[in-house]
Amino acid sequence: MSLDAMTELQARQEILEAVRQYAIAYHSPKAKLREGERIAYAGRVYDEDEMVRLVDSALDFWLTAGRYTDALEEKLADFLRVRYCSFVNSGSSANLLAFMALTSPLLGERAIARGDEVITVACGFPTTVAPIIQYGAVPVFVDVTLPQYNIDLEAMRQALSPKTKAVMLAHTLGNPFALDDVATFCKDHHLWLVEDNCDALGATFFIDGEERYTGTVGDIGTSSFYPPHHMTTGEGGAVYTNSPLLHKILRSLRDWGRDCVCPSGRDNLCGHRFDRQYGELPLGYDHKYVYSHFGYNLKATDLQAAIGCAQLEKLPAFIQRRNQNFRRLYQGLAHLSNQIILPQSCPGAVPSWFGFPITCKEKGKRDSVVAHLEQAGIQTRMLFAGNILKHPCFDLMRTEGRGYRVVGKLPNTDEIMTSTFWVGVYPGLSEQQLEYMIATVEEAFSCGA
Ligand SMILES: Cc1ncc(COP(=O)(O)O)c(C=O)c1O
Repeated sequence: MSLDAMTELQARQEILEAVRQYAIAYHSPKAKLREGERIAYAGRVYDEDEMVRLVDSALDFWLTAGRYTDALEEKLADFLRVRYCSFVNSGSSANLLAFMALTSPLLGERAIARGDEVITVACGFPTTVAPIIQYGAVPVFVDVTLPQYNIDLEAMRQALSPKTKAVMLAHTLGNPFALDDVATFCKDHHLWLVEDNCDALGATFFIDGEERYTGTVGDIGTSSFYPPHHMTTGEGGAVYTNSPLLHKILRSLRDWGRDCVCPSGRDNLCGHRFDRQYGELPLGYDHKYVYSHFGYNLKATDLQAAIGCAQLEKLPAFIQRRNQNFRRLYQGLAHLSNQIILPQSCPGAVPSWFGFPITCKEKGKRDSVVAHLEQAGIQTRMLFAGNILKHPCFDLMRTEGRGYRVVGKLPNTDEIMTSTFWVGVYPGLSEQQLEYMIATVEEAFSCGA
C-alpha cells in the first residue's frame, strides 16, 4: 500500500513492523564468545521491543515527557510497590533531587540547612555525596564493613551529632545495607533516610517479616538507568517516595521549581490557573509561572521512557539472571577463599547484584590481577571511587580541613581502594563467558600474576 492510501495508524504499524524486522536481523545478541571478543562488565540487554517502542515514540515526535513517561512512572511505582515515582534524566539527577527535596522550606524544622550533617560512606559513587557538598551541608564519612561493602553500623551510631539531619547511602553493587537497622536508627533520631538504589533495583529486605524493595523503605529512593544498570533508558533515572509532600517537592524541583503540577503542554488541570494568591505576586498571577523552589529541569524525554517501558517488562528476568550469574561466579571462585574475600550480604537482605566484588587478601595483588584479566579480555571495574576523600575533588577541602567530617579511621574503605575490583554479572553473559571468567581469575591467582 502506498503511504497516501493508508491511515496514520496503518502507516505507523508498517513502520514499526519494519523496525521489528530490522532489530531482529541486525541487533540480535551474539550469544557465543568469539575469539578476541571482550567480556564487558555490563551492557544494554534489549531486543526488538525496545527498538519498536523507541520508534513509536519518535513517530509521536513529542520530545519531552509524555505518555510513555506517565506509563513508566506508573509501572515502576507498581513494580516497587511505592506510591510516587518521577522519571528523571540520570541517577545523579535523582540523587540531586532526593537531597535537595530535603532542604525544602515546605519541610519546616525538619528541612536540612547549610551546615547540617548527613551521615554517609566514603566508599562508593561520587554523586551519592556530591549534592550534600554542593548545597553546603556536611557529609560525615564512616567506614564500611567487609565483605559486605556497606556502612559499619557501629561507626554510623558514633557519627550522630546534634547537627545530624539525614543518612544518605547506596546499596553497594546491589547488596542491601542493613536497612532494618539503618531505618530504625533514622526513626529513633528523626533523621531522613535517602536510599541510593541506583545499583540495586530489585533487591529486597525483610523488615518485620515483610519483604520490601530497597529504595522504598527510606524517605526517598533513587535509580539509575544508565546502560550498565539493571534496566536502561540510555541516560535516565528515577526518584521515588511514599510521601505526598516529598513527591510534590521532588516534582517541583525537577520541573523548574514551579508550584503548578500540570504536565508539560497541559494547562489549568486544577481549574485555578488565574485566581490564586502566591507570595507577593499580584492576585491571579498565572500559576504556571509561580515558583515555590529554586529548581532545575531534570526531566527526561519520552523516547527514553519508551525504552524503559519495554525494559521494565524484562526486569524480573534480568534480576533473576544477574543473581544466577553471581551464584555461578561465587561457586566457581569459592575455592580461592584463602586468596580473595568473597562478597556477603547481611541477614534479611536479598541482593540484586550489579557486579561481583573481589578483594585480594594479599597486599599489592589487585593491580596485577586486574591487568591479567583485562589482558585476557575481561573488563574489570574499581569499586567506583574507592575512597572518595582521596580524590582530586577533595584536594581543597582536605587541605583546608573543612566542609566534611570523618568518624574514626576508614581502614576497610582504604583496603577496598587498594585491593578490590569487580567483574560483571549482567544478563548478557553466557555460561561460556562465565566459565572463562572463573578460569581466568583462577589463572591470575595461580600463576603469580
Ligand atoms: C551508586 C550510584 N549512584 C549514582 C549513580 C549515578 O547514576 P547516573 O550514571 O545515571 O548518573 C551511579 C552510577 O552508576 C551509582 O553507581
